[in-house]
Amino acid sequence: MQQVQAVVAKAKGAPVELVTINVPDPGPGEALVKVQACGVCHTDLHYREGGINDDFPFLLGHEASGIVEAVGPDVTSVAPGDFVILNWRAVCGECRACNRGEPQYCFNTHNATQKMTLEDGTELSPALGIGAFAEKTLVAAGQCTKVDADARPAAVGLLGCGVMAGIGAAINTGQVGRGRSIAVIGCGGVGVAAIAGAALAGASPIIAVDISAKKLETAKSLGATHTVDSSKVDPVEEIKRICAETYAGAEGADVVVEAVGRPETWKQAFYARDLAGTVVLVGVPTPDMTIPEIPLIDVFGRGGSLKSSWYGDCLPSRDFPMLVDLYRQGRLDLDAFVTEEIGISDVEAAFERMHGGDVLRSVVIL
Ligand code: APR
Ligand code: ZN
Ligand code: ZN
Repeated sequence: MQQVQAVVAKAKGAPVELVTINVPDPGPGEALVKVQACGVCHTDLHYREGGINDDFPFLLGHEASGIVEAVGPDVTSVAPGDFVILNWRAVCGECRACNRGEPQYCFNTHNATQKMTLEDGTELSPALGIGAFAEKTLVAAGQCTKVDADARPAAVGLLGCGVMAGIGAAINTGQVGRGRSIAVIGCGGVGVAAIAGAALAGASPIIAVDISAKKLETAKSLGATHTVDSSKVDPVEEIKRICAETYAGAEGADVVVEAVGRPETWKQAFYARDLAGTVVLVGVPTPDMTIPEIPLIDVFGRGGSLKSSWYGDCLPSRDFPMLVDLYRQGRLDLDAFVTEEIGISDVEAAFERMHGGDVLRSVVIL
């Protein structure tokens, strides 16, 4: 067992605290990781606010990279010294999804078996089964994805959550590529990642939609070919117009990614989609939200598919190394997502700044 400093949310709505925690030595199937960088994500704030569940105290942080320090006796997939990105869907290899060759949908993903605790022995609930606002964290070995060590930890660690969700929403769930158009509604960290993913895949046009002019500027710098300020114009009409400029007869975008998580923007996505197109919901709605009233004949008549995207439908072992390589080749600007590097005692202040809209990601450096 080791004692390290970590950021813990002890009670609903209370400011997070930097405390000493106990981290067990890795047992079978587990790995101990020395965390190097961990991004501050909205989901951490949702945990702190009691919006996910009531299993306080939470050990926050889940978009991280680091070095494996030790592994359990039976672990062969990673070894001490490996540079890894942590993922929150370590696939089991045995469930129905895994068995039918769709491990990205695994229904029984793994976390560490042993619990990290407060000094008094109170068990911690690690955010998304990771808990990486900590000098060291204990995870399932399958949560460690080895990538090229020659990459900036703060940048590639973001692939562990929001950036992967966005890129994957476009290229895995939406399957965009050359000759396909895409619109992304909501250009926060997740939305602009979807735009960067669409650019990588060769989609055109790539239409960014937001109510903030500042967000649209960022979207442009990451690959958007057109921007639509939906506080000023009807985004559905505008998306249709732009797509028809490139593809005669188009009645919308082939793929529309909803990266806000609200009924009204999902409805915009539904109607901004071309016939036989795809809506991808990657924004996370709150439990009280319902699907907007839409005539069923519109669902039938427009064809296509209405999808949701978990974690960008990623397979960490397939997608993380590939995206790190593209980053190292200068084709995927992950550095652009790192607005600021902060210390482990600055997480609460970073939560405050999230509301300001100036930050894509604050990243804790350890
Ligand atoms: N129309 C268009 N854009 C909107 C609207 C709207 N009605 N309302 C909000 N937005 C924009 C905001 O201006 C902001 O740029 O949506 C963006 C949301 O971005 P962030 O708050 O930074 O959130 P992000 O981290 O990108 O996550 C987006 O995905 O993972 C989920 O829980 C997460 O639901 C959230 C979503
Ligand atoms: Zn499985
Ligand atoms: Zn996250």
